[in-house]
Amino acid sequence: MEGCEKRVRHVSRIGYAKKVIGKRKCKSRRIKRVEVPPKVSVTLQDLFFSCRQVFKGPGTVPLPNDVLKICRILEKMKAEDVGLSSDLQFFKPNSIVPKGTPPRVTYTTIYKCIDFSLCLFFLPANGVIPLHNHPGMTVFSKLLLGTMHIKSYDWVDHHASAISKDDSSQSSSQLRLAKLKTDNVFTAPCNTSVLYPTTGGNIHAFTAITPCAVLDVLGPPYSTEDGRDCTYYKDYPHSSYSNGENKLEEGASYGWLEEIEMPENSQMDWIEYLGPQIYGDEKYLADRNYMYC
Ligand SMILES: [Fe+2]
Repeated sequence: MEGCEKRVRHVSRIGYAKKVIGKRKCKSRRIKRVEVPPKVSVTLQDLFFSCRQVFKGPGTVPLPNDVLKICRILEKMKAEDVGLSSDLQFFKPNSIVPKGTPPRVTYTTIYKCIDFSLCLFFLPANGVIPLHNHPGMTVFSKLLLGTMHIKSYDWVDHHASAISKDDSSQSSSQLRLAKLKTDNVFTAPCNTSVLYPTTGGNIHAFTAITPCAVLDVLGPPYSTEDGRDCTYYKDYPHSSYSNGENKLEEGASYGWLEEIEMPENSQMDWIEYLGPQIYGDEKYLADRNYMYC
């Protein structure tokens, strides 16, 4: 999703603001602006150091104990750890989205290296991140603020699990059978969802019911050069195209997924991350006695 970067000029849409204190001098009425040193979040630092240990690069999946470790840190993660607050105008239930414009999703990257990345997504009410996959990736999604609907699928990989959408057309697109993993509404604070390369709901869609902020930990990150590009899908009910050839699990739900171009109204805007910064050197932090939040 990060290939469609379109930088927006202002970060005021979300409400991030560089902390500047205005100091009034009585006599001269001059205002002296003092930059406050950025705070360091203990939880964000924990997450960063753990990700550095856990994610071993492309082609690897974190071990169950390591997944647990990241989940435990994310359970502690608050909006404030990434410079957000429910008091920001963006997250107010009546926050105004200009009429006639589809609600655009905004994102920012907190940190990115070859092994993992930490990204934040901001969805206004009714904002949608359409069905998309995470090839070869393990992704932790932590809803920090708001209420959203999450739908996710995993591929069913036995033979005869792909069919043509329209047999009469030569250019008909293929539909692949997928098993529904999640189709629920989540409200922060809630458990972290974890998806893996072939399980856990690798293909998912987010639909915001109220303005939301989601923290994604992706290992490894998307990379077009390394064959980890993002593909988008449209889903159809299983009953619409059932070929009767697939053995389906009793009690499970299925759908057909069609690969599509990225929907035009799903382009995201990129903003600069202005929350607590990440420091890669633990000793550096200890030596400077940094202000923790
Ligand atoms: Fe995703």
